[in-house]
Amino acid sequence: MKGIILAGGKGTRLYPMTQVVSKQLLNVYDKPLIYYPLSTLLLADIKDILIITTSTDVDNYKKLFGNGENLGIKMSYKVQDEPNGIAEAFVIGEDFIGDDNVCLILGDNVFYGGDFVNILQEAKNIKEGGIIFAYPVANPESFGVVEFDETGKAISIEEKPKIPKSKFAVPGLYFYDNEVINIAKNLKKSARGEYEITDVNLEYLRQGKLNVKQLSRGLAWLDTGTPESILKASEFVYTIQARQGQYISCIEEIAWRRGFIDNKKLIEIGNKLKMTDYGKYILSLVGE
Ligand code: TTP
Repeated sequence: MKGIILAGGKGTRLYPMTQVVSKQLLNVYDKPLIYYPLSTLLLADIKDILIITTSTDVDNYKKLFGNGENLGIKMSYKVQDEPNGIAEAFVIGEDFIGDDNVCLILGDNVFYGGDFVNILQEAKNIKEGGIIFAYPVANPESFGVVEFDETGKAISIEEKPKIPKSKFAVPGLYFYDNEVINIAKNLKKSARGEYEITDVNLEYLRQGKLNVKQLSRGLAWLDTGTPESILKASEFVYTIQARQGQYISCIEEIAWRRGFIDNKKLIEIGNKLKMTDYGKYILSLVGE
């Protein structure tokens, strides 16, 4: 399975912060926002990853991750010239995906919770169709909204409906078979001028091949599109880390625990960052 992080966009709701800096490079407490979606892919054992971002930001992401060898993964980069919509990721990423299945995560989505690794590992083994998720939120009208029948089967999905049919929003994490490339290529732009991920999901739903899994309230899904939501996410990460002494989305830790990098590499990275709590945490792992 291949992984794509979509980290373009204009971030207009975060102006002036995002006038010259990519949203996904802003910090959520102690690390760049993109570490959080990247950690989700690493927890799914996805090691071949494409970052799609804007032409002005791509060099900064290359500076941050290089070819991925520091994390024992392969990192590639592509540019989305304009924010033409989430579904365009599969057209831009066609060569990268090749004949594989693919997991797409939006660069501003933060997930954290106990059972999450099992959910990811199961979704990663998808054979056919698509797997997306549904999560209860207080403001479903800001998202794609799923309606379920009484048996728990998804029957409709609407993008940002004025009157939502349920409180279940679709988070920015999607697993698809290779057919997604063809589906994305055949989409028409929506009224708001975007290639909609909801239209991809509706096509899978029409074919009877969409599995919508409800995530429990015990799992945290935060998105970070506004100054307030970034502050709230930062507070959340700070609170858990301070209480547990364990880090959320420390990508080096995850790469090490999953065996992508060895002790020597972890110490090398930790030493470069040892003036910070983040670096000290990395170094403390080796002596566990
Ligand atoms: P949005 O939050 O919908 O868009 P944005 O980041 O440009 O922000 P704003 O609404 O404030 O202008 O995007 C969600 C995520 O998807 C975000 O990480 C950016 C990414 N994205 C792209 O990379 N390309 C796109 O065409 C779209 C629509 C989103």
